Amino acid sequence: MSEKVLYEGKSKVVCEGPDSDSYIIRYKDTATAFNGEKKEDLSGKGKLNSSISNLIFEYLMKNGIETHLVKIIDDISAVVKKAEIVMVEVIVRNVAAGSFSKKYGVPEGTALKNITTEFSLKSDELGDPMINDSQITAIGIATADELSFMRAQALKINELLCALFEKMGIRLVDFKLEFGRAGGKIILCDEISPDSCRFWDAKTNKKLDKDVFRRDLGDVLEGYREVLKRLQNV
Ligand code: TMP
Ligand code: ASP
Repeated sequence: MSEKVLYEGKSKVVCEGPDSDSYIIRYKDTATAFNGEKKEDLSGKGKLNSSISNLIFEYLMKNGIETHLVKIIDDISAVVKKAEIVMVEVIVRNVAAGSFSKKYGVPEGTALKNITTEFSLKSDELGDPMINDSQITAIGIATADELSFMRAQALKINELLCALFEKMGIRLVDFKLEFGRAGGKIILCDEISPDSCRFWDAKTNKKLDKDVFRRDLGDVLEGYREVLKRLQNV
């Protein structure tokens, strides 16, 4: 590919798009954790995440969620709408795990009595700290209206994803979303993949996501391949 690279992230490259309203994103094989401190090249990861995320975005779009996805180019590349990323990550949790379990002393796997949403500041330098609504609006990262829209969209997306993953025999434990501003709207951007979600096999609780890499639990891509296979057959 010869498009001009505009930005290189940890797991994707953003290139100039075919017109002024779009970018081309290209998935990389790099896996990172702990804000980039742990890093490894995993051959085939880009392809897997690209395929998984595209299938999920297409499903969400069919169900009324606006996303940045315009057109899939090949195994690892897609044209996406140019959007100004809102610099917070939106995290939805159905089951206690990860930082939630650690911070609040709730054992991993505990079902939550209600779905939780939280925001973190998108900043590797600062370690993506959790940030609340009044802090986000005080700094000017997003308006109160934008925050309530993103939270409502995140909950709608959770409902749609829970229904889809239940059919696949997978428990959607938690996930992270990113949104961007494009054409006066807030749309879903970035990716939804085993990098950004916790997926547990519904029967065995086997981890099918990046925690296998974060915690050195074995062949991380085995789970990614399983998620793709089940998504293709749902
Ligand atoms: P956490 O339990 O570590 O806060 O993670 C919550 C969810 O967000 C989990 O599904 C993994 C995802 N996530 C990311 O996508 N990027 C990140 O930088 C972090 C820390 C978590
Ligand atoms: N995405 C973050 C990183 O690459 C952390 C994570 O997903 O655990 O460092």
